[in-house]
Amino acid sequence: MSLLADLRAKQALYSQYGQKCSLLKALLTDGTLANALYRAQAALSRWHLAPLALIPHWLNKVVNGCVIGVRAQFGPGFVLIHPIGVVINSSTRGGRNVWVESGVVIGDNKGLSPTLADDIFIGSGAKIIGGVTLGAGARVGANAVVLHDVPAGATVVGIPARSLTRSGAKPEAD
Ligand SMILES: CC(C)(COP(=O)(O)OP(=O)(O)OC[C@H]1O[C@@H](n2cnc3c(N)ncnc32)[C@H](O)[C@@H]1OP(=O)(O)O)[C@@H](O)C(=O)NCCC(=O)NCCS
Repeated sequence: MSLLADLRAKQALYSQYGQKCSLLKALLTDGTLANALYRAQAALSRWHLAPLALIPHWLNKVVNGCVIGVRAQFGPGFVLIHPIGVVINSSTRGGRNVWVESGVVIGDNKGLSPTLADDIFIGSGAKIIGGVTLGAGARVGANAVVLHDVPAGATVVGIPARSLTRSGAKPEAD
């Protein structure tokens, strides 16, 4: 069940911060309701019940301030860490273990939407726009604006987002 996998991923996320996190604690933390409503809408959409999927979609918007298009797809381990202000386009495709902070926009530009591989972290307020691809293990810094593909394992920051080098950790020129 995808929601259980999402909660397990949230446990892993908290343990990265050095905090112990039981399944119950993961269930009670911010974002779980938004995750559950997303999983409900995704299941209804998969079962070709798109009009019904609009109910959890609408609830997520009203209760959590989180707008996720009814056809957006994420693999198991999707975590809405803080869902407020998150906006995700319906055509977005995400792999396993995509972790999203508050205020993240994953949006359409010129009719194209992002594709996210596995094990992606997106920091607070980041915007990922258009037909870009984020490679496996990529990290997007808080408030970055991603307009180009991000290679696997890279960390990008800034506007427009650029990779950090590990030596000196400065943004690289394109
Ligand atoms: C991008 C990020 C993942 C990088 O983490 P990291 O690998 O530990 O990187 P560091 O903190 O060592 O920073 C490396 C360099 O990048 C810079 N940097 C880090 N994050 C940045 C960001 N979002 N925008 C611009 N520059 C950033 C740092 O200033 C540092 O530069 P310096 O070497 O010139 O001082 C992290 O900084 C980040 O933005 N996390 C988001 C956290 C978040 O959203 N929290 C919300 C909680 S509610």
